[in-house]
Amino acid sequence: MKPKVIITREVFDDAIDYLKHYCDVADNQADVPYTPEALAGKLANAQGLMCALTDRVDAALLAAAPQLKAVANIAVGYNNIDVPACTARGIQVTNTPGVLDDSTADLAFALMLATARRITEVESYIRNGEWTGWKLKQWLGVDVHHATLGIIGMGRIGQVIAKRAAGFDMKVIYHNRKRVAAEIEARAQAVYVSLDELFAQADFIILQMPYSPQTHHMIGAKELAKMKSSAILINATRGGVVDDKALIHALSNGVIRAAGLDVYEGEPKLDAGFLQLKNVVLAPHIGSSTEATRRAMAMTAAKNLAAALSGIVPPNLVNPDFRRSEVIS
Ligand code: GLV
Repeated sequence: MKPKVIITREVFDDAIDYLKHYCDVADNQADVPYTPEALAGKLANAQGLMCALTDRVDAALLAAAPQLKAVANIAVGYNNIDVPACTARGIQVTNTPGVLDDSTADLAFALMLATARRITEVESYIRNGEWTGWKLKQWLGVDVHHATLGIIGMGRIGQVIAKRAAGFDMKVIYHNRKRVAAEIEARAQAVYVSLDELFAQADFIILQMPYSPQTHHMIGAKELAKMKSSAILINATRGGVVDDKALIHALSNGVIRAAGLDVYEGEPKLDAGFLQLKNVVLAPHIGSSTEATRRAMAMTAAKNLAAALSGIVPPNLVNPDFRRSEVIS
């Protein structure tokens, strides 16, 4: 008998077709998100779960899923999943690294350019019929080219952002939990600095660290105060790495110049304070959202899940120690 898998959200048909070769698939192409209780009910007799970052896979859900063997997240970040709890139950967890690096870097760059050149402000100005003519000092922005870019989190996405920055003749500095290998620094043309040096020097700061208890509110009032008053902050990684209330205060009081945001604490209910501000460009968590990339993410998750349930090590296993705990338990 084929293993039973639950897909929690709408995906591209090719991912479902692929999974159907290996599994008995229950999809949700209507894309009405399941409540935790509804998902728990669906998982009662399922071996596989393909989920999104909107789904919380925690100990309570796992308790309702006695047969679960694999969880394939359709995202590179997996802070929605309690990985230690999965590992303790011998459940494999996978993510979708690689396929979304370029698209996510593009979006971070788009937010940087849009905030620097005030694209959303000027677009509303035109749409409101307020443009009456050209003026030398009209809508002055700041230059991205030749500016200093500080990247916090020099993983795969941070590295491709650095590659783009080279094309804009930017100076790239970075901070990472661990300094990256010399050849990566050379390829990215990026110089390792302390966080305080980064805050003091960067004209633009792009956040690319993953969300975890350790990075929760890593950018708060204290850190914002260390940035240049002309600095622009871009967060296209995860809500929660920035203290949104502190950011709204900083943007309202000239502590920093502007921000470009794709992610928020408690999204999709972002703090209403952001909506009052002109110096913030807002996007609805679309970092990886191009058709090609989202299709590739769904297919990557499908391949991970099929492999995991077929006894093959899935390409993007995030908890390789899951077997050990299975043997122990
Ligand atoms: C998107 O936010 C992802 O983690 O893939």
